[in-house]
Amino acid sequence: MPHIIIDGKEIEFNAGQTVIQTARESGIDIPHFCWHPSLSVSGNCRMCLVEIEKMPKLVIACSTLASDGMVVRTQSEKAVAARNAVMEFLLINHPLDCPICDEAGECKLQDYAYQHSVGESRFIEEKNHKEKRVELGPNVMFDGDRCISCSRCIRFCDEIAGKKELTFIKRGDRVTITTFPGKKLENPYSMNVVDICPVGALTSRDFRFKSRVWEMAPTKSICSGCARGCNIDLWTRNNEILRLTPRFNNDVNSFWMCDNGRLNTFKHVHADNRVNGPHIRKEGELIKGGWDEAYANTLSELKSFTKDEIAVLVSASLTVEDAYLVSKFVRSTLNVKNFDFIRKVIPGSGDTILIQEDKSTNTKGAELMGVKPGNGGLNFDEIISHIESGKIKALLLVEDDLLSLDTAFGQTLSKLDFLVTLSTNFDAATPFANVVFPASTYTEKNGTWINFQGRIQRIRPAVTTMEMERSLDGMSQSRWDKFGTDFDSWGKAKKNDARPTWKIISGLANAFGTKYKFTMAEEIFNEIAHINPLFTGLDYDVIGENGAQLKTETVKKKVTI
Ligand code: SF4
Ligand code: FES
Repeated sequence: MPHIIIDGKEIEFNAGQTVIQTARESGIDIPHFCWHPSLSVSGNCRMCLVEIEKMPKLVIACSTLASDGMVVRTQSEKAVAARNAVMEFLLINHPLDCPICDEAGECKLQDYAYQHSVGESRFIEEKNHKEKRVELGPNVMFDGDRCISCSRCIRFCDEIAGKKELTFIKRGDRVTITTFPGKKLENPYSMNVVDICPVGALTSRDFRFKSRVWEMAPTKSICSGCARGCNIDLWTRNNEILRLTPRFNNDVNSFWMCDNGRLNTFKHVHADNRVNGPHIRKEGELIKGGWDEAYANTLSELKSFTKDEIAVLVSASLTVEDAYLVSKFVRSTLNVKNFDFIRKVIPGSGDTILIQEDKSTNTKGAELMGVKPGNGGLNFDEIISHIESGKIKALLLVEDDLLSLDTAFGQTLSKLDFLVTLSTNFDAATPFANVVFPASTYTEKNGTWINFQGRIQRIRPAVTTMEMERSLDGMSQSRWDKFGTDFDSWGKAKKNDARPTWKIISGLANAFGTKYKFTMAEEIFNEIAHINPLFTGLDYDVIGENGAQLKTETVKKKVTI
């Protein structure tokens, strides 16, 4: 392979690679603003100037192709002086907004000002003022003063989102970005421009001024918006999720995610309608009760029906571990055959970029964990019609309100004699329930989902529940009930008394006289890997941060961006 020497390091490269790409692959960071690995090269910021032997002038590393024997110096006196000059030029008109700018802490201009700038300004004139707080679209705010005209946002819209919505207008130091006449920045991926803007010129209208970035901690997880399973970071402060950003995974979502996933998949975690503890219907009202009482009530009620009068419907967004344990419980403890999953598909809602029509996160996982009717049992449609005809009288509904598919299912649920739900929030189904168990959201538990490509990926807890706190404190349930539940008086952030679905099912199985030995989701996964050849060799460490492709899955469709 051909070689290039960068700062004395000999590096192999592939034909067609630029100097900046080659350097990056071998861990050498050449400062840059306008270059982005997933966008075309525009070469306008000049921050990546480097010295190349036998070339009379400095060249930009982002558009210069590497060639065999090329000798590049990124730290030579000339290159450093040029970088300092570019920084001085960019800072001439840049406002000193850092104390109030959302980007502070993750701003490339700020970082490079520390690393590559002389640290003082010779500019004594009045700075150029441009428009501030411009609503470019429903989700993105623009601050003209801060823009360094790198054009990343324009190229993103043109090349990734496929919507020509942004452009430059004016010339010289008056240049600014704007939307085309009569248009808004409102493509389904518009908020990615906030991530790639190297400064704080584009900010999220949802997250603006909520937190300094260094006050938050990221947790690696997966978006719950559809079957794509975009890799994300959940950013939390004081046990509260404040924003969600895409995490690079070239096999799934590259650098991107859609606005819907970013904005609408975490607010329910802190909503006022969270189910905070088990609830049991008494004299027509759902009253908060204890866990043992809820288990006992469910047991005695379910025992009053024949097996054919009971059905179990579970969300196709349960984790693999949850789906496995529900399956095991339904088949070997409840002995119920009327069992199926609820899949949410919105025809026409998908695209060729990331968004899938299947809004369930784990349809493949539910299938592989055996969530399907037992021999002679009823499927989803048959269960619904049998409830309506009165043949099915009791339903266990797991992590899905059913009415989000169709509000007409409210009529269906009203025909039941007994409804148990495992719900994260009080929703459209819970008013019909006799017992409601509080289920943890995907941000409060460990587990795995299998996306539409057949890729298994991990979710991790980003916020704690009272259950997790209780385990950490090692308190017994009775002691906890007495002393542990008043978090606010301890000055801690409010936590929900929710449990992962597999744990609630374990408790229910226990009431039925079946003991499961699992104390954490990972142990369930290890059992699955032990008995299912498709999962052989996999564990949480192997799946890691980027997921793993299941061996025999036929769907290999890669991300197209
Ligand atoms: Fe670049 Fe940000 Fe200006 Fe767009 S708004 S041109 S991404 S600095
Ligand atoms: Fe090379 Fe901007 S990164 S010119």
